[in-house]
Amino acid sequence: MGGLARLEYRGYDSAGIALADKEGLTVLKAVGKLANLDEALSDAAPQDAVAGIGHTRWATHGRPTRRNAHPHTSTDGRFALVHNGIIENADLLRAELRKTGVTFASDTDTEVVVHLIQRAYDHEELLEWDGEVPGCEGETARAAQRLVAALRSVTARLQGTYTLLVLSSEAPGVILAARRSSPLVVGLGEDENFLASDALAFVEHTTRALEIDQDQVALVTGKGVVVIGHDGRVLPLKEYEVDFASDRATKGSWPTFMEKEIHEQPRGVADTLADRMDALGRLALDEVRIPESLLRSIDKIIIVGCGTASYAGQVARYAIEHWCRIPVEVELSSEFRYRDPVVTEKTLIVAISQSGETMDTIQAIRHAQEQGAKVVAVVNTPGSTISRESDAVLLTHAGPEIAVASTKAFTCQVTACFILGLYLAQVRGNKYGDEIVDYMDKLEDVPAKIQEVLNRGENVRHFAHTMKDASSVIYLGRHVGFPVALEGALKLKEICYIHAEGFAAGELKHGPIALVDEGQPVIVIVPTPRRLELHNKVLANIQEVRARGAHTIVIAEDGDHSVDEFADVVFRVPPVPTLYAPLLTVIPLQIFACELAKVKGLDVDQPRNLAKSVTVE
Ligand code: F6R
Repeated sequence: MGGLARLEYRGYDSAGIALADKEGLTVLKAVGKLANLDEALSDAAPQDAVAGIGHTRWATHGRPTRRNAHPHTSTDGRFALVHNGIIENADLLRAELRKTGVTFASDTDTEVVVHLIQRAYDHEELLEWDGEVPGCEGETARAAQRLVAALRSVTARLQGTYTLLVLSSEAPGVILAARRSSPLVVGLGEDENFLASDALAFVEHTTRALEIDQDQVALVTGKGVVVIGHDGRVLPLKEYEVDFASDRATKGSWPTFMEKEIHEQPRGVADTLADRMDALGRLALDEVRIPESLLRSIDKIIIVGCGTASYAGQVARYAIEHWCRIPVEVELSSEFRYRDPVVTEKTLIVAISQSGETMDTIQAIRHAQEQGAKVVAVVNTPGSTISRESDAVLLTHAGPEIAVASTKAFTCQVTACFILGLYLAQVRGNKYGDEIVDYMDKLEDVPAKIQEVLNRGENVRHFAHTMKDASSVIYLGRHVGFPVALEGALKLKEICYIHAEGFAAGELKHGPIALVDEGQPVIVIVPTPRRLELHNKVLANIQEVRARGAHTIVIAEDGDHSVDEFADVVFRVPPVPTLYAPLLTVIPLQIFACELAKVKGLDVDQPRNLAKSVTVE
């Protein structure tokens, strides 16, 4: 249950658990948050269970009801299964099973798999698997071997994406797992082992972990782990050390994860910047499997990502184009491959993802790699699918992000993209070494300035209390302020359930200004007055909305008093180079959304309908 609680942010519309003891399987499920399952469990948990599987759900197929909650069980109750992902040929398989007399207890795609496992297990002609089952002998070992064979024969028929965990009363101390495209890690403990979609689930018990690759099956008992390749052979174990301390994944004294994570940004950005220079004063990425000659030959960059990650990419575009003089496109991962993009061996794909498991982004990079492009991943999770499948990795060191609304991941992604831009400028000779050092020095000043903005947070929190009845908020920005406006609006939508839109400030007069009437809150991100032309344009935009009755909330640089007469409320940020401003201007917007959600009594960390890591397309 502790492990499930740590992963609850990934889906929380229902939860369930299956436990195995000598008597058979006990399955408990509850709709809603994990606390409801905890209650059900306190009355009915078997005392001698030796293995268990659990799941928190984010509904894809079938409404979030008890009957659709995982684990799903075979008709005879001997097999239980949890699943992440989508089985794309579920309809076909369901029809086939119905013909053999199976009746379905749920509307999910998952349920077909457990019935197929039962059918395969009981089938006389099942191909045998005869590997070792750690700590098991006799009947139990034979049952476990049979289960491996059954699972392998079933996964061969599945289309789509999955991580599956299977428990059976035939071999009560054994858990089997299989994965294709969805995440799965194994944790190695003392006389206990763990399986999870994220190491976070077991990090308080062990930091020793195993990678499980595509189309592999893992057999796990308390005594050991066996990893089986697609050809049935036992594979050497690929062990690694999980590198975050378990306390970074707890709230500590903060009321919510989101507040904790907002305040962790100075550290996250500083950690992301740390140790990037080698002994010769040259920038380095974490892991690069792309020759420098190839990086010199690229003629286009396409940045892919979803939601907040894509907004980080939009900020990055301004910097990379300016520093490297390469055209940069930013595309939502989910749209990328469907528009038949022009991708060649000279295209560099930059995939941005906090989790490293977002299915839309995984599919985007696979599509690009098929066309011969190289992929640089900007990810926060080492060992994740995106980091493993990419040709180069630049890690953001934000630490685990638990609140569903992304905050520190955004600022760390922007920082990492700046490093990438400077790295490319170095490799391609667009900037001299001393210029790069200068850019890096100024970037290293940013964490302290983020801290200053955080220290001024009380003003923003106070303002949030005045906005509790707002039903719509408009965000405006220009240049790098535009993606910040989009990000600010996204935060408000996702945790306050308030309709919010971010617009390019100059675009407003081409339509959206019709939305503005008396009292409409409009938040404007004002660029530094040192970029006078840009600054004056935004000032003019504030006046346009004000003239139509808008309530104007302005984020402006310290000392920029030209905004005073047009602003009902002003939040200040310290001066930084124009391109770095998003790292500061986004902070008041994060604090505002977080505080407003609290004022409205909403669940800040786990907003409705959402899940932290979207592992389905
Ligand atoms: C918004 C948010 C999402 C994610 C998006 C991508 O606050 O968290 O928009 O940014 O789902 O997730 P990752 O970065 O894990 O690929």
